[in-house]
Amino acid sequence: MQVVSEKTAIVTGASQGIGRAIAVRLARDGASTVLCARSREALDAAVQEIRQTGGKAAAIALDLRLPDAPARLAEFAVATFGRINVVVNNAGATKRGDFFELTDEDWADGFALKFFGAVRLTRAAWPHLKAAGGSVVNIAGVGGRTPGADFTIGGSVNAAMATFTKAMADVGLRDGVQVNLINPGSIRTERFQKRLVTLAMEKGVSIDAAERQFAADARVTKIGDPSEIAALVAFIVGPEGRLFHGSLIDMDAGATKTV
Ligand SMILES: NC(=O)c1ccc[n+]([C@@H]2O[C@H](COP(=O)([O-])OP(=O)(O)OC[C@H]3O[C@@H](n4cnc5c(N)ncnc54)[C@H](OP(=O)(O)O)[C@@H]3O)[C@@H](O)[C@H]2O)c1
Repeated sequence: MQVVSEKTAIVTGASQGIGRAIAVRLARDGASTVLCARSREALDAAVQEIRQTGGKAAAIALDLRLPDAPARLAEFAVATFGRINVVVNNAGATKRGDFFELTDEDWADGFALKFFGAVRLTRAAWPHLKAAGGSVVNIAGVGGRTPGADFTIGGSVNAAMATFTKAMADVGLRDGVQVNLINPGSIRTERFQKRLVTLAMEKGVSIDAAERQFAADARVTKIGDPSEIAALVAFIVGPEGRLFHGSLIDMDAGATKTV
């Protein structure tokens, strides 16, 4: 049976972290959500969380680095909920480290998921987004605006995402599709939490103290919560957010010092 609700939102990398928070928030706001990541188990837990609060969700486990996976995700969303109104390109994992130790494979892998995954999903979903007057939100990162020695791959991928966003916003003018990008700063995800535990142990301080020190060293006002990024996504794709178009939004507690 095909379920058709008012809005259907695809969120990639939705099994944990920022993506999961975005899926939970959009479902809370009434969207039928389609979650994608590789781990079936983690996806099932996220779907369960959404359904327990009365939200609508379905999940498909795919490796979005594979060329045909994004089209399969779009097909799954249409087959399950009948339409695609929102695409959130969030999945990303790029290797950090000394530039001279990073291989061609590391670079290709970083681009395969975050950049080409987003390009391919946007292309596959576009006819549906055009029909629905829908929205694309790309989740990039501050490293694309303020590059650093240990983040050559991630910074390059995020900068490419920004250019892709601007170009697709131009296409979206013609086709009635809204396209924007958010650059999160440091967000308190599971990954960040692990870094904090290590930091706290190294310095012999509490986790809270380690977080305050981290924020002070990074010259930011605070560490973000995934739900804060999710709230901005919900606003942008909601009825009051349509003025955002081709916007590249730093949500980074002051991390980006340049104009
Ligand atoms: N957290 C931050 O502080 C921060 C800051 C700036 C930007 N960002 C960006 O925000 C996005 C989300 O970050 P996060 O910290 O929430 O990430 P995360 O906790 O590491 O989660 C990544 C998500 O992507 C999925 N994923 C990874 N590889 C995949 C693949 N090959 N195919 C499909 N799904 C895949 C993961 O699930 P599986 O492993 O099961 O596939 C997971 O759901 C990323 O693009 C990241 O670069 C994050």
